[in-house]
Amino acid sequence: TKRIGILTSGGDCAGLNAVLRAVVLHATSNKGWEVIGLHQGTAGLMARPVSAERLDPYTMTTVLLRQGGTVLGTTNRGDPFAFPMADGHSVDRSEEVIEGYRQLGLDAVIGIGGDGSFKILRRLAQQGGLNLVGIPKTIDNDLGLTEISVGHDTAVQVATEALDRLQPTAASHDRVMVLEVMGRDAGHIALSAGIAGGADVILIPEISYRMERVAAKIDDIKRQGRNFALVVVAEAVPTESGEPVTRIHVGGKATYGGIGHYVSERLAAMTGAETRVTVLGHLQRGGPPDARDRIIAQAFGVHAVDLIEAGKFDRMVAWQNRRVIDVSILEATEHSQVVDPKGTLVHTARGLGISFGD
Ligand code: F6P
Repeated sequence: TKRIGILTSGGDCAGLNAVLRAVVLHATSNKGWEVIGLHQGTAGLMARPVSAERLDPYTMTTVLLRQGGTVLGTTNRGDPFAFPMADGHSVDRSEEVIEGYRQLGLDAVIGIGGDGSFKILRRLAQQGGLNLVGIPKTIDNDLGLTEISVGHDTAVQVATEALDRLQPTAASHDRVMVLEVMGRDAGHIALSAGIAGGADVILIPEISYRMERVAAKIDDIKRQGRNFALVVVAEAVPTESGEPVTRIHVGGKATYGGIGHYVSERLAAMTGAETRVTVLGHLQRGGPPDARDRIIAQAFGVHAVDLIEAGKFDRMVAWQNRRVIDVSILEATEHSQVVDPKGTLVHTARGLGISFGD
């Protein structure tokens, strides 16, 4: 029998609880192991006493399958190798995390994370001899070697629904609606939602744009007799001159959103159109996972348990060609996957007459 730990790390997304439930069901009911849920990512292992709970199958009701967020809590990107202290300094607390793993007597740990989390978890695993298996989650879908990560599909669904709701009000008021969506470094959410939601313009960091071209597209639409338009902008898109504006500053504090306002203002000035901007923000992360995320989450959870049984560590479960396989965690983090400007979806969008402003 085994005792395994599981933790969620980095930004939350829809489907994390579905992963937890799948791991617990397969590990306990089928294998007879014990599963320990670690609180707040690596912070639970750093705490004394260690902050963790035993996860039993009877507590893993189907409610969890549908529930957004993570019942274990997640790290607030607190890196144990450079842990921020109250006085502003940072200290290396990695040994405390490793000691926490030992205190719990864990045989292995499943980390649900994105590339930032995996880099930290791998370092911990190597330093302390921890047996690590990774499950990819990121709404941004920029992890390498897996076609899809948990949370992305729901985020695309939410952004698509936002366009469904913006279109009627845009049409009623003859407005250009700008929707800013998430994606720290990649335009996957913007591209997929833009196609699914019938956008006229999609701006992503992978394709450089000129406002002149975007304005020309809006003017074109007007000439054809349509008085409204939908523009999707990924948060990571810089201004036309290349300045990053992911965060706007209000009262000296960085708050969410930025580029959507820039595009909206510029478009209004250049075309005379009335524009409005919506920053979708964290709505893309919370909420119940859609069907595809639930399926991927549970397939990953079951497979991760099988990897531990097979003694395959330092591996990440991945979705490729309609199946779950396992890949090197290191390689997955090294080959982050942004939008391919020559890929199928960009080609599809261009075929539909969607402009990238290039
Ligand atoms: O990586 C996921 C993500 O949601 C990005 O899309 C976004 O840039 C970032 O996290 C937001 O981070 P925070 O929740 O810390 O504001």
